[in-house]
Amino acid sequence: MKDMKDTTIVVIGGLSGIGRATAELAAAAGARVIAAGRRTPPADLPPSITTAHVDIGDDASVARLFEGIGPFDHLVLTAGPVIGSARLADLDIDDAIAAFNIKFFGQMRAARHALGNIRRGGSITLTSGLLARKAAPGALVKASMNAATEIMAKTLAKELAPLRVNVVSPGMVETGMWGEMSEADRKAMAARAGANLPVGRVGQGQDLAQAYLMLMQNGFITGSVVDVDGGGLL
Ligand SMILES: NC(=O)c1ccc[n+]([C@@H]2O[C@H](COP(=O)([O-])OP(=O)(O)OC[C@H]3O[C@@H](n4cnc5c(N)ncnc54)[C@H](OP(=O)(O)O)[C@@H]3O)[C@@H](O)[C@H]2O)c1
Repeated sequence: MKDMKDTTIVVIGGLSGIGRATAELAAAAGARVIAAGRRTPPADLPPSITTAHVDIGDDASVARLFEGIGPFDHLVLTAGPVIGSARLADLDIDDAIAAFNIKFFGQMRAARHALGNIRRGGSITLTSGLLARKAAPGALVKASMNAATEIMAKTLAKELAPLRVNVVSPGMVETGMWGEMSEADRKAMAARAGANLPVGRVGQGQDLAQAYLMLMQNGFITGSVVDVDGGGLL
């Protein structure tokens, strides 16, 4: 792991799951880390991680976050809504719009407001998801907002160059994104889903965190989507 001393990173969505794992790995590599989100920060976060409140669905809240932070090097966006599956006939369009407002427009909003803060040599890493390129009945909203995220990143990689913009696309990762369920149900779901993957298990936050760190550190990667899915897209 490269030393990230003298590097400041901001992780929106950094108070849980994949974002938290990324914040912790970057902090372990020596980075100054600001983890932002809506929830009360977990008490067991390493003390080297500073926390901040932001609602990525609210333009004023996102603007306030970056005004308060000042210059930094890398922006990581992992905030996303918990949404279920619905086929078109059962879809509530207002729910779909609300999900897009967090996942797609939230990432666009954060990138927009962070522009003036990110130092030369820095990067933005967005998050999509396997369904962006794997059509499945009932996945219309997730697939659409993740696919839109991927083309947003590629467009911004050209438009904002030399600032680098990339995407991590997770497959099934054991986090709160799976919704409320008992520990036993979560483990059973992980075992079932993992058995169908080439690597024989679902992902953990740390598997994903390594990809975000690589994209921050490798100055030759931009406009890329990195699939971290245990082979789920195959
Ligand atoms: N886990 C998977 O299997 C999987 C698969 C494909 C893609 N992904 C993507 O990976 C990313 C990270 O998800 P995760 O698995 O790490 O789940 P997670 O632990 O639920 O992380 C999502 C984070 O987003 C935050 N968030 C939601 N709405 C927000 C808002 N309006 N403003 C600020 N923060 C907000 C949540 O915090 P609050 O609830 O406190 O707001 C939470 O901390 C998401 O984009 C997700 O779509 C995950």
